[in-house]
Amino acid sequence: MIYDDALDKTRIDDFIMSLLAENDKDILELKKYAIENDVPIIRDETKSFLRLIVNLKRPENVLEIGTAIAYSTLVIHRSFPEAKIVTIENYEKRIIEAKKNIDKFFGDGKVELVEDDASVYLKNSDKDNFFDLVFLDGAKAQYINWINDIKRLMKKNAILISDNIFKEGEILESKFLIRKRDRTIHKKMREFLHFIAKDEDFDTYIFNIGDGLSVSIKK
Ligand SMILES: C[S@@+](CC[C@H](N)C(=O)[O-])C[C@H]1O[C@@H](n2cnc3c(N)ncnc32)[C@H](O)[C@@H]1O
Repeated sequence: MIYDDALDKTRIDDFIMSLLAENDKDILELKKYAIENDVPIIRDETKSFLRLIVNLKRPENVLEIGTAIAYSTLVIHRSFPEAKIVTIENYEKRIIEAKKNIDKFFGDGKVELVEDDASVYLKNSDKDNFFDLVFLDGAKAQYINWINDIKRLMKKNAILISDNIFKEGEILESKFLIRKRDRTIHKKMREFLHFIAKDEDFDTYIFNIGDGLSVSIKK
């Protein structure tokens, strides 16, 4: 075994990311804004993986839950500009920035920003069997509440990518070691993971990438 501890894993990750340094200046500009303004965005490894899936799948219709400032939306768009993306955000401050960025970087009507609670959109949407790819990156405690509607909106063979499933490692811990205020998220994320791992309508794969992500393919 050449490496076997967390330190070396970090070095390997750094090495990989140095090979895959970002060269899209618009993506770099949004990342810089996100860092300076404490906006949570996907990690670099997650970005790489998302690009891989978008490139392989070449989705006609994408649903993104959790736009923030449209950073991951731009990653998806630049990976496959033909995709039509519906992206949902409910935080007014972020909606203002997302709109600016969508006007600046997308332009051509490829992105629809839904300014609403994802729970409302998912419950009311009649786009059954419509989306080829779903990127789930909204409130973590809601994943389990949203999954059946997400499944309904996915086409056969569509891919669901769910981000931050490890909750920075907390998912491994007993609930007694989790701060009281985080226990609901912990419990609901575990319920979500059990659901997607066991649900017969999905083939699910789990990856130790970024903060953990799962890929579920609708059968
Ligand atoms: C981790 S950030 C998304 C980051 C973005 N996907 C990226 O990587 O650039 C999560 C976003 O989901 C939004 N959000 C959380 N709960 C939501 C809900 N119920 N409906 C809509 N948006 C929600 C938050 O306001 C936040 O901006």
